[in-house]
Amino acid sequence: MDTQLQELIDTALSMRKMSYTPYSHFNVGAALLGADGKIYTGCNIENASYTPTNCAERTAFFKAISEGMREFKAIAIAGGKEDAKELDYCPPCGVCRQVMSEFCKDDFKIILVKSSTEYKEYTLTDLVPERFTPDNLLG
Ligand code: THU
Repeated sequence: MDTQLQELIDTALSMRKMSYTPYSHFNVGAALLGADGKIYTGCNIENASYTPTNCAERTAFFKAISEGMREFKAIAIAGGKEDAKELDYCPPCGVCRQVMSEFCKDDFKIILVKSSTEYKEYTLTDLVPERFTPDNLLG
C-alpha cells in the first residue's frame, strides 16, 4: 500500500487517544491530507452543553484552515467506543460532510478505517452525491 495512505490510516487510529469524550465515550480520530502533503490531525471534543461538541473531522479541517491550508486530498477517519476491542467503520456525520463540501472537490478521498489493514475508500461524490457548495452561492 501507498506509504502516505498507511500513514493517514495509522494517524487517524492513534488520534483517538486525544479525544475528549466524557459523555459518549465514543472516540474518533481523523487525519487530513493537505495539498501541501502535510497531515492535519483531529479528534472529537465534547462539551457538557452537548451542542458545542466538535467532531474529529471538523477539528482537523479547522486546524488546517487556520494554518492557511485550503486544499485537501484525503481524510482518514477511525471511530468507536473507547473500550472497543475492535472498531467498526465510522462514517462522517452530515455536518462534517457539509464542511468537506465547502473545501473539497468531487474526487476528495474519504477513507473509513477499521484497523491498520482494514479500510474502505470513498470519494466525496460517493458520500454526498448532491451537495450544496460555494458554487451554488457564488456561481
Ligand atoms: N463524532 C465524530 O467525531 N465524527 C463523526 O463523524 C461522528 C460523530 C463524534 C461526536 C461525538 O463526540 C461522538 O462522536 C458521538 O456522537
